[in-house]
Amino acid sequence: MPLTGDSLKRVALIQSFSERLKFGQCLMRSFPGFSGRRSGSREKLVSGIVSLPRIMGHRGAAASAPENTLVGIRKAAAYGATWVEFDVKLTADGIPVLMHDDSLKRTTGQDVPASELSLSEMKRLDAGGWFAPEFAGETVPTLEETLTLLHALGMSANIEIKPSPGEDVDTVTRTIAALERSWPASAPAPLMSSFSRKSLEALQKQAPDLPRGYLVEELPEDWAATAEALGCATIHHYAKVVTAAQVAETKAAGYGLATYTVNDPEQARQLIDWGIDCLITDAPDVIAQAIA
Ligand code: G3P
Ligand code: MG
Repeated sequence: MPLTGDSLKRVALIQSFSERLKFGQCLMRSFPGFSGRRSGSREKLVSGIVSLPRIMGHRGAAASAPENTLVGIRKAAAYGATWVEFDVKLTADGIPVLMHDDSLKRTTGQDVPASELSLSEMKRLDAGGWFAPEFAGETVPTLEETLTLLHALGMSANIEIKPSPGEDVDTVTRTIAALERSWPASAPAPLMSSFSRKSLEALQKQAPDLPRGYLVEELPEDWAATAEALGCATIHHYAKVVTAAQVAETKAAGYGLATYTVNDPEQARQLIDWGIDCLITDAPDVIAQAIA
């Protein structure tokens, strides 16, 4: 693919990696190309710096196991997924944990904001029984527990920063600190994404070398300026609303394209036909088969 102005800028990002090893020393060693373990032909190098897999387990494998849990990530691995997406927010004592909703009610039965419980309080909750009795006793995992498991499984991650209200920056700061502590030197860097512009700006400032994904619902009119300003490598479209023209436009601009959440085989095939690189799905087993 010829290098356009945008692509050149992203290649320039790679070239500046070695000069910015402040925290990236361990994270970035294998970063250029963002491939690494179990990449092979199942991942595709896009936009110069990010290899996206065709399939990514959403919140682990949310159709088959409780979302954002370790058992869910193991399930995704058992289905052959090499990447998982999950959501990260902070406990009251500032520990990054995997949780989607601001409230703990839906996934633990406790009607309280996640930001109001300490980790030790949250760890007493059952984060699996709501999904099915066989998962009762599963706990809310910390990000660091998750990183350790991912490494053991040889998996890569799309870490979605999902801040509780007012915690857009702190969630980023503490997530980066957790990565510094627990993401091994040999592992490829995770892809960071968020709907929060403040979080993406904080990522850009605090960890410029980590690839960033711009999460959108309806593609905003000013998407190109925003993605450029935030130095994003990928755009993550909402599968329900994205159009073929938007896929073509964002792809032509040189971005890697992911889309969420694709659980229907026919829709999966259509999105791939349009040019989407990566399908984020609750059912990695079903969707992998659909596009095989
Ligand atoms: O990161 C893709 C997708 O997870 C974004 O939406 O609400 O499921 O976190 P949500
Ligand atoms: Mg998410």
